[in-house]
Amino acid sequence: MLMKRLISITIAAISLMASFGASGEEISITTDNTKLTLWKGDDGLLTVRGYGLKRDTLNSYGGSDEQVQQFLFYPTYGDGFLGDSALQVTHADGDIATRLEVQDVKVVQDKKDKNIITTEILMKDPAQDFYVTIYLRAYQNEDVIQIWTKIENKEKGGVTLHKFASASVMNFSPSYWLTHFTGSWANEANMTEEKLTRGKKEIYSNLGSRAHRMATPMFLVSLLGPSNEDSAYMIGGTLMWPGSFSMRFDIDSTRGLRMTMGGDNRSDGYYLDKGESLETPKSLWVFSDKGKNGISQKFHKWGRKYSMRNPKKPRPVLLNNWEATGMGFDENRLVGLFEDAKGTGVDIFLLDDGWFGGKYVRNADNSSLGDWKVAEGKLPSGLGYLCKEAKARGMEFGIWLEPEMVSPKSELFEAHPEWALRSANRNYVLGRNQLVLDLTNPEVKKYVWKIFEDTLRPNPIKYVKWDANCCIYQPVSDFQPKNKKGNVDFEYNKSLLDIMKKFSKEFPDTAAMLCSGGGGRVDYASLQNFESFWASDNTDPMSRVFIQWGFGHFYPSNSMSAHVTHMGGRPMKFCADVAMSGALGFDLDISKVSPEDKEYIKKTIELYKKEIRPITSAGDYYRLKSPYEHAQSAVMFVNKGKGVVFVYQTRDDENDQTVKLKGLDPDKTYTIKEVGFYADGQKSEIKGDGQAFKGRELMENGIVVPTKKACGSSIILLSEKK
Ligand code: GLA
Repeated sequence: MLMKRLISITIAAISLMASFGASGEEISITTDNTKLTLWKGDDGLLTVRGYGLKRDTLNSYGGSDEQVQQFLFYPTYGDGFLGDSALQVTHADGDIATRLEVQDVKVVQDKKDKNIITTEILMKDPAQDFYVTIYLRAYQNEDVIQIWTKIENKEKGGVTLHKFASASVMNFSPSYWLTHFTGSWANEANMTEEKLTRGKKEIYSNLGSRAHRMATPMFLVSLLGPSNEDSAYMIGGTLMWPGSFSMRFDIDSTRGLRMTMGGDNRSDGYYLDKGESLETPKSLWVFSDKGKNGISQKFHKWGRKYSMRNPKKPRPVLLNNWEATGMGFDENRLVGLFEDAKGTGVDIFLLDDGWFGGKYVRNADNSSLGDWKVAEGKLPSGLGYLCKEAKARGMEFGIWLEPEMVSPKSELFEAHPEWALRSANRNYVLGRNQLVLDLTNPEVKKYVWKIFEDTLRPNPIKYVKWDANCCIYQPVSDFQPKNKKGNVDFEYNKSLLDIMKKFSKEFPDTAAMLCSGGGGRVDYASLQNFESFWASDNTDPMSRVFIQWGFGHFYPSNSMSAHVTHMGGRPMKFCADVAMSGALGFDLDISKVSPEDKEYIKKTIELYKKEIRPITSAGDYYRLKSPYEHAQSAVMFVNKGKGVVFVYQTRDDENDQTVKLKGLDPDKTYTIKEVGFYADGQKSEIKGDGQAFKGRELMENGIVVPTKKACGSSIILLSEKK
């Protein structure tokens, strides 16, 4: 408490240090607890005064009119601003400078949803017929501010946008600590925290598609000191965009931190013809004084309400065949897998890669993408038959698609090499032996849409895993005219989002998983059309503890598909306990597991559906012990008087076995009960198991959960005593 007070005083004191030279009026974007303060000077310039809690006097910094330019909210290149601009344009007449002055400010209350208020700031360059509207949408309850822009060219000719970020927000604190989430295939969302010093740090992707393979577009900035889970003053941000992106953090001469976010990376110049406009991707911003947990809970709440498909529908339990069979299956083998899963509680069988092909059959990853016909040699009775056979065994049927891609060894590529993004007069650069289709070409877009129509319409397919395994290595489109060659990366992703949206609308009963060689594409624009995403091809639970921990900072657990497999050779209970903290599924050959494991799988699915999923799907999420800092890690969910705690041991360590709970009412009483034992008759080693404790005691003293050895795990249910 004292610490909080001190922080408030520090922030207030910083704010008194300065005032702006120019007179004008304040434009504040507020949510229930936070405020982004902008200033419209009499000179028309729009500057930032601060971003923080409503109750603190917001920090601002300023000085002479000359300095004021350095605080522009959407800084443009070439007219006094010397830092990292958000917008850089070459105008139709060759002018390389841009100045934006506010022309109009509108505040619009959403008609259907009281929670949403949008401020629209229309700006114009006084020397050019060039306009930018900044949209700031404030979601009151969730403290989320969504910022994006519309750039309009009404000049006499085309303009080139060299930079066109979505937002550029400033904060003025004595220090900043950046947490980012990077990695690669099978190693996604590694969390790193570093102190920012003077200069610029950029987290970015140039990959075009599968764009988040090496960095996920999400960040946390802790002000005043390193982050913590519960009390640090923090900003969290993410970009609703499946494509390349840039997140820049610049401590400049103002000593403020400028945070710039956009989908404009890799554009060697986006050409906007006369009369055209461009809408930039939506960026999301959250401020919290409750540390990382505070930020996560706000994103989860917002995501579930506004940016996930069917957020309230329980995620089905899948049985996938990728780890079990790869592409080596035929009809009988698949029906055999259905048969083995009968009665286990699996909801959907998901047939993965390898089911298609015409002239070339997909038996390895070097052919057939683009030829989405059932491979008759493997599946002579077709997909309808498989749907029927699965249904007869109590399961629905789902399928893998990789609609954006083409193999050079395919009928599609032989007929239409110009439909692929590639440098036709150079050697092709392939990724996983494939190329990306040019979705900026409407004919290709139509073809890709037809894949969904042809596969899903004739068959009662209830699930799609939408994969994308290749980056755009050569962003070269035969379709785009000479002056728009640089638009490819951005336009590709706009088209992709259109197709995703159309899929979600046209096939409302087909659930979908967003996958990109694992978690290579995870963002809230895509997720509007998917029930979940595939966090990683790495299903070793020992790695998944970390990967799910990373993504969980921004995405709720029911959006994270997590499957039990044999990867890593871990005990079945550890695999299942880790998967159950996400959206549970399996990827194994059930005929090959021991009778004990099979029995355990059945019990696990039952427990998950009955006791765990209702809490994890809707509950508030708390990180209790970080796997980055402890051999024993723990997370928990609390929902309406019920809770579930997951405890995982990643290294042998007999010490450090106390888990302090969070999110409970200190004065209420809760019964704790360990569940999910591998064998019947096993007893909990948790002292106090089955007994009731005050919330205060569980939070202050914690429970001792003796997981001890690597791969030890426990699941503890909590229920409030009435
Ligand atoms: C990607 C996915 C996997 C699997 C394979 C199939 O790597 O991430 O889960 O679907 O493709 O080729």
